[in-house]
Amino acid sequence: MDHQQEAERIRQLRQELEMHNHRYYVLAEPVISDREFDGLLQELERLEAAHPELDDPNSPTRRVGGDITRNFPVVPHRFPMLSLGNSYSREEVAGFVARVERSVGRTRFTMELKYDGVAISLTYKDGALVRGVTRGDGEKGEDITNNIRTVRAIPLKLQGTDWPTEFEARGEVILTHAQFARLNEERARNGEEPYANPRNTAAGTLKNQDPKLVAARGLDNFIYTLQGEHLPTRSHYANMMKARAWGFKVPLPELRYIGQADDLDGIMAFIDHWDKARHHIGMAIDGIVVKVDDLDVQEELGLTAKSPRWAIAFKFQAEQAVTRLKAVTFQVGRTGAVTPVAELEPVLLAGTTVKRASLFNADQLQRLDLHAGDMVRVEKAGEIIPQVVGVEAGQRVPGAVVIAFPPDCPECGTPLVRLDGEAQHYCPNEHRCPPQITRRIEHFVSRRAMDIEGLGGETVEELFRAGLIRTVADLYDLTAAQLLALGKGWGEKSAAQVIAGIEASKAVPFEQVLHALGIRHVGETVARKVARGAGSIDRLMAMSLEELTALDEVGEVIAGSIKGFFAAEGNRAVIERLRNAGVQLAVTAGSGPAGDALAGRTFVVSGVFRTFSRDGIKEAIERQGGRVSGSISRKTNFVVAGADMGPAKRAKAEELGVPVIDEEELRRMIGE
Ligand code: IVH
Repeated sequence: MDHQQEAERIRQLRQELEMHNHRYYVLAEPVISDREFDGLLQELERLEAAHPELDDPNSPTRRVGGDITRNFPVVPHRFPMLSLGNSYSREEVAGFVARVERSVGRTRFTMELKYDGVAISLTYKDGALVRGVTRGDGEKGEDITNNIRTVRAIPLKLQGTDWPTEFEARGEVILTHAQFARLNEERARNGEEPYANPRNTAAGTLKNQDPKLVAARGLDNFIYTLQGEHLPTRSHYANMMKARAWGFKVPLPELRYIGQADDLDGIMAFIDHWDKARHHIGMAIDGIVVKVDDLDVQEELGLTAKSPRWAIAFKFQAEQAVTRLKAVTFQVGRTGAVTPVAELEPVLLAGTTVKRASLFNADQLQRLDLHAGDMVRVEKAGEIIPQVVGVEAGQRVPGAVVIAFPPDCPECGTPLVRLDGEAQHYCPNEHRCPPQITRRIEHFVSRRAMDIEGLGGETVEELFRAGLIRTVADLYDLTAAQLLALGKGWGEKSAAQVIAGIEASKAVPFEQVLHALGIRHVGETVARKVARGAGSIDRLMAMSLEELTALDEVGEVIAGSIKGFFAAEGNRAVIERLRNAGVQLAVTAGSGPAGDALAGRTFVVSGVFRTFSRDGIKEAIERQGGRVSGSISRKTNFVVAGADMGPAKRAKAEELGVPVIDEEELRRMIGE
């Protein structure tokens, strides 16, 4: 392909990928498989790498997240972002309708769900997203455009042609229950505390400095208004349907996410429907918004100090239950995080029996001012996780003692620590605190980690209590005789099965082994990417923070966690023992033919490549036994230069007499 053809192909791929993206994330009607999608995306990545001059911040390749954002600039909103007047009773809604009709006569209303998420304003110019800003104080918000680009339901380029040259689409970024549950499962697997509710998690995610992490969280979005001078119609509802045609995710009338009414009865019917149906739509909504539909009538009605006179929010009552606090227990997780948990007299709440509720951390405990035997109010946060939201202080037994966060680990007695800026207390006794050890080992043997058959939570505890295992490495020294000697419940067969399972785990690929090690923030996906990017544990242990963050999916937090893990003497010792046992500590064949064509040579790669991705070229070198280093020194054997390698690097290579080769040359060296 010549340059012209490649440019055309890039344009075509971007359009096609954005279309598939829309079909998948907005319409939920994909027409190609994930695999085909990835194939097209990779083709685009390759072409873009070869043509930096054709860069486009709205390319679908940007949806996976780019560089770390140091801080989010504060920018003024062109139109203030207002809030809504709240109402908690049907009478108040009736009052609102009466006020409107008194002022402007009969008029049509549009009703929508009130999404419980984070308000954002998206600016589009010439059909392309140029800016995404948080609500902030309503007058100015933070520019979080790079994070916004990772939200797949937000179009980066609009379809059709009848959009205003410049306008804002406003809406709510949310986390669906399904994504929220997935995140919390992943956190549990990684030994991290669960998030409290979808809204706070969405808010925290949008402000995260690492767009790659934001991309991985799977945020969703609904648009609920358009702002601008030349909107397509003067009806809010009709504008929403226009926005739908341009590619936005808007509330669907088919699902009754949006409706219209000409009187109070119609509005009430919508509210009644959702008062019941809200528990079944897979996302948190905290009410219904009623809006005057006609934009001219809206203008006529105008605003009060903070909120429009043409709209009102009807808030649903969160379901609550009151029950007695039996005790507060303090659970120690795999990473040493200590979580207070309220043990409750069982009570029925929004369809399930609740016996326990997380109290999250010391701050929350203090805020609630819990006393032994208190009657507490429980609510399902974001409709999912039971949470203690308050205390019926009036019903407190006189003389009841206040419940305090323990200064020492309830399991091992070590004084707890609390890191700066973190809400969680940790037990630092990583290598001796029993639940930390057993939960780490449980994670190690679990199905998605080393997948050791015959070992589970109870057996791990038993082996630990018997003094047979203290670290995951001890598993590989176990003998059938030791297991049989445990007596009750063990027979020749079960002992042999466990030993065979341990033996078989030596074939588990490095990607999974890395996950099994239980490094904080390194879940399955990250482990896979890191293992492939680094190639081996030795290389991984030697990588600088900078090299780590250059890996796919790795931001500063993950990089720091990896460094911290390998810095610990105890962990290094465990890894040496795993190595001696024969556990896989490097990626092996299957991820490409390995060889030793580059053994003993050190490479520095710089610039963008036509036929390799940045990680891909490193992987290719390492797979052939070469080493990749971050900076040019006398030890460097070759510099592989791609397009736009910096002049300073080139000068340095020349000064030290290091040969500079191109990617074709590299391919020849590895025999391709
Ligand atoms: S309209 C002038 N529609 O609720 C009113 N807001 O207090 C502009 N919200 O921060 C907002 N769902 O983020 C509107 N369907 C909906 C909404 C909605 C959720 C949020 C919005 C705003 C808050 C209003």
